[in-house]
Amino acid sequence: MMTPHIPADAPFNSDQRAWLAGFMAGMNSRLIAGESVASAPAANAAQPIHILYGTQTGNAEQVAMDAATAAKTLGMAPDVHGLDDIDMAQLAAMRHIVIVTSTYGEGEMPDNAQLFWEALSADSAPRLESLKFAVLALGDTGYDGFCQAGKLIDTRLEQLGATRITTRLDCDIDFEDAAAAWLGETLPLAADKPAAGVVTTTAPSPAREAIGWSRKNPYASTLAVNRRLSGSASTKEIRHFEFDLGDSGLSYEAGDALGVMPVNDPALVARLIAGLGASAETEIGGSSLMELLSSRYEISTPSRDLIAEVERRAGHEELSHVIRNGDKEALDAFLWSKDSLDLVSLIPQGGLNAAEFIGLLKPLQHRAYSISSSPKEAAGHVHLTVASVRYHAAGRDRGGVCSTYMADRVAEGAAAGIFVSQNKAFRVPTDNDTPMIMVGPGTGIAPFRAFLQERRARGAKGRNWLFFGDQRRESDFIYEDELATMSRDGLLTRLDLAFSRDQKAKIYVQTRMKENGKALFSWLEEGASFYVCGDASRMARDVDAALAEIIAEHGGMTQEKSADYVAGLKRDKRYLRDVY
Ligand SMILES: Cc1cc2nc3c(=O)[nH]c(=O)nc-3n(C[C@H](O)[C@H](O)[C@H](O)COP(=O)(O)OP(=O)(O)OC[C@H]3O[C@@H](n4cnc5c(N)ncnc54)[C@H](O)[C@@H]3O)c2cc1C
Ligand SMILES: NC(=O)c1ccc[n+]([C@@H]2O[C@H](COP(=O)([O-])OP(=O)(O)OC[C@H]3O[C@@H](n4cnc5c(N)ncnc54)[C@H](OP(=O)(O)O)[C@@H]3O)[C@@H](O)[C@H]2O)c1
Ligand SMILES: Cc1cc2nc3c(=O)[nH]c(=O)nc-3n(C[C@H](O)[C@H](O)[C@H](O)COP(=O)(O)O)c2cc1C
Repeated sequence: MMTPHIPADAPFNSDQRAWLAGFMAGMNSRLIAGESVASAPAANAAQPIHILYGTQTGNAEQVAMDAATAAKTLGMAPDVHGLDDIDMAQLAAMRHIVIVTSTYGEGEMPDNAQLFWEALSADSAPRLESLKFAVLALGDTGYDGFCQAGKLIDTRLEQLGATRITTRLDCDIDFEDAAAAWLGETLPLAADKPAAGVVTTTAPSPAREAIGWSRKNPYASTLAVNRRLSGSASTKEIRHFEFDLGDSGLSYEAGDALGVMPVNDPALVARLIAGLGASAETEIGGSSLMELLSSRYEISTPSRDLIAEVERRAGHEELSHVIRNGDKEALDAFLWSKDSLDLVSLIPQGGLNAAEFIGLLKPLQHRAYSISSSPKEAAGHVHLTVASVRYHAAGRDRGGVCSTYMADRVAEGAAAGIFVSQNKAFRVPTDNDTPMIMVGPGTGIAPFRAFLQERRARGAKGRNWLFFGDQRRESDFIYEDELATMSRDGLLTRLDLAFSRDQKAKIYVQTRMKENGKALFSWLEEGASFYVCGDASRMARDVDAALAEIIAEHGGMTQEKSADYVAGLKRDKRYLRDVY
């Protein structure tokens, strides 16, 4: 592993430089979750620090790992755990903690922090007067509950008598530099070594990028396959993509996600340029307006700043009314299906110039996709299963930025920017004999195709049960042939299908779960892991409720006992979700 070079004239003293070098080098190392690094040479006199993370898709875990490596170089003895691995008695015995947590759903705790939060927020939570803590919150200002999970934990720890080491930091999507700078200030304070210095916001991130392909340095991968999976009669368009990993050195595991960097629709870019009364060549900060609108800024989903500015300038009665009344539902309804062009159009031409408009936008972000292949079967390639977002509103055909970029604008043989986003928590069981129950309607089937391939490649003997569904059997039974082969070969022990629109009453995956509740419960009793992937807001919520009902009914339990059973599954990492 290369130690990154820190220029001798960097504004740090020798101690600071040594620490920073370690920190930067540490960006290259990958510790294993839960692994204590207290056995490092400096451990004898080292001060313990517990670095706890709440994560859904791995960012917070990664930051926690980096924090542990940095803490070690400060002579501390860090250990890293998911929040749910910590009970209140353990928390009360701790003296220094750093919590790194994302927020998921709509202002909710990520999956591996829910049990922790339940216990921390309960009346029975212990007093924590001996605890010093600092919270680093990851989030996205595009959501209403920005960094809500971090805010809740931070406030509750204070209520319980714990002392802040430093003020909480709330990070937007571009969290890396800010998080590294905050850790650079916070860890020395936790170690009572404030002189160890302040890390500039930009120092650690080049090292992170030096390790390879990332969000900020995506690999230009050739799109080898772009095939429609859903039938022509379907109201949906689900596509299968295969990206060639070439000589990138990129590797992944079944359960990981792929980040794809999109480019905006040129038709929308052209309309916006015209709407702003500007030209494609208009130069802003050294780049052309065309370049900025195509690949640097989000122009489909309007940013909060744009909405606020348009409200100030447009004199639009309805928009002003809903904003003034703070009516979130009415604002969402007003914004539904509107893009930046719709909002700019509310202001008379000339009322907002191109530079002002650019200043109101958010950077264009990658989209995440659950990988639908196992590297053991799709050597050198990564497969995705993607629903194209398409709709028509106010006289224009519109599309989701990334799903239509892959579907329409990257030709087979052309390249798109990708990177792998690890999801270490979402894996096939390490024990090849453990049964798996997978619930994945729609595009939710993606990681389960990968899991099944993975188990086939391993020769795993554990039983596999898949619940799949979508609108209509005739047109939406994606990967039907592959699943038939897996069933015939005995890899797929059970396949239960729920086509929602083939009959009058809706049949959903949870309908099938309940119909087979007795068998499902006995699989759980036999040690099965239970996985869910797909739509978070409706499907995953209802599947969760169905699971609790099934356990109560077939386990002869009260609701409370059934909730404990589900909590146990989560604690044992046997109830895992990849939902969006
Ligand atoms: C961990 C993770 C894994 C994921 N895995 C997958 C996967 O395997 N497959 C998959 O397909 N997706 C997956 N997604 C979702 C994916 O990341 C994108 O969110 C999705 O493809 C939409 O992105 P887009 O850029 O095409 O659309 P965007 O430009 O982001 O637009 C989406 C927005 O368009 C608006 N919209 C959508 N439909 C309509 C409509 N009918 N009328 C009006 N407005 C509408 C909504 O505001 C919606 O939020 C995953 C997400 C996460 C976080
Ligand atoms: N939040 C929303 O309103 C919304 C709506 C659609 C899609 N999406 C998003 O669109 C993306 C792609 O969706 P997708 O192709 O994976 O499929 P999907 O839209 O989630 O649909 C897959 C199947 O799930 C069914 N379904 C709908 N509500 C359900 C519920 N409460 N419980 C169980 N099943 C339910 C659908 O039936 P029916 O369609 O017949 O009801 C369909 O048969 C995802 O990101 C999803 O989150 C969101
Ligand atoms: C489906 C979904 C829901 C999200 N909900 C929120 C939210 O309510 N508030 C917020 O601040 N961030 C939200 N985020 C943003 C994440 O917190 C952010 O991307 C974070 O970096 C993820 O970190 P993780 O990989 O550790 O989970 C959401 C992201 C996704 C994909």
